[in-house]
Amino acid sequence: MAANTDFIIQEVKNQRMNKIAVKGMAKFVSTVSVALFTLVTATQALAQGDAAAGAEKITVCLACHGQDGNMSQIANVPKIGGQNADYLLKQMNDIKSGVRAAPLMTGMLNNLNDQDMADVAAYYASQAAPQGAAEPEKVALGESLYRAGNADIGVAACSACHSPNGQGLASAGYPALSGQDPAYTELQLRAFRDGVRNNDDAQVMRSIAARLNDAEIAALASYVAGLR
Ligand code: HEC
Ligand code: HEC
Repeated sequence: MAANTDFIIQEVKNQRMNKIAVKGMAKFVSTVSVALFTLVTATQALAQGDAAAGAEKITVCLACHGQDGNMSQIANVPKIGGQNADYLLKQMNDIKSGVRAAPLMTGMLNNLNDQDMADVAAYYASQAAPQGAAEPEKVALGESLYRAGNADIGVAACSACHSPNGQGLASAGYPALSGQDPAYTELQLRAFRDGVRNNDDAQVMRSIAARLNDAEIAALASYVAGLR
């Protein structure tokens, strides 16, 4: 009988302990959830650029890229207005850290922190995309390579990643090529081919450009300028 009572008392104690443990666990879990939520929100806040704030931070960019990002008075300065923000931000980070060589931009990004860079990327992304024109005699070769690639030499169709109208794929950070200054596009394709530009993840552009000859590069650069 006594043993039985002891057993019941022990059982009640155990249940109390369990309740306390469960309560403690619940509190712990909710603390962790709050911490995680705060972390996620903070990360999102950092990655989200504010275009209006960015407009106040482009003073040093104006001389070369202009207010709308598409002033192209200077040879080989890319048009960046309307380009997707993820691509712009990746390039700014790569240029700032020296992963992508851009001698004319030396020091230009030094006074911008991560949030400033995201803001500036959002600002230029919010501008109108440029429009250009292709040279008629380069369209046939450019179009066929752009849309179908060349299975014989292992060149993938550019349209698969840069989209049929050359607007790129913003969600993946693949750049728009349409309306870009052909001299700049040509320079980049040569730089990928020669390995001078090597900041493309998984060598995606180097492996393609390595198989293109000068005439094909010139045709592609002209063709994409006219896409819209
Ligand atoms: C003195 C001229 C100059 C100034 C000022 C300048 N840039 Fe550039 N920028 C260039 C040139 C030239 C390139 C192309 C580099 C190359 O040949 O690879 C470039 C490339 C870029 C790219 C890559 C574009 C692409 O399509 O890959 C971005 C983004 C960019 N600049 C943003 C900026 C921002 C933001 C500022 C201001 C904080 C700025 N630049 C200031 C000349 C300039
Ligand atoms: C598998 C996807 C893929 C294919 C196919 C592809 N590209 Fe790209 N391309 C990219 C990515 C990603 C980048 C950005 C690399 C980086 O991070 O700097 C890029 C960058 C570029 C740039 C530099 C843009 C700038 O503003 O500096 C040019 C020019 C370009 N590609 C042209 C082409 C052409 C022409 C073809 C077809 C012959 C092609 N690409 C095929 C994914 C692709």
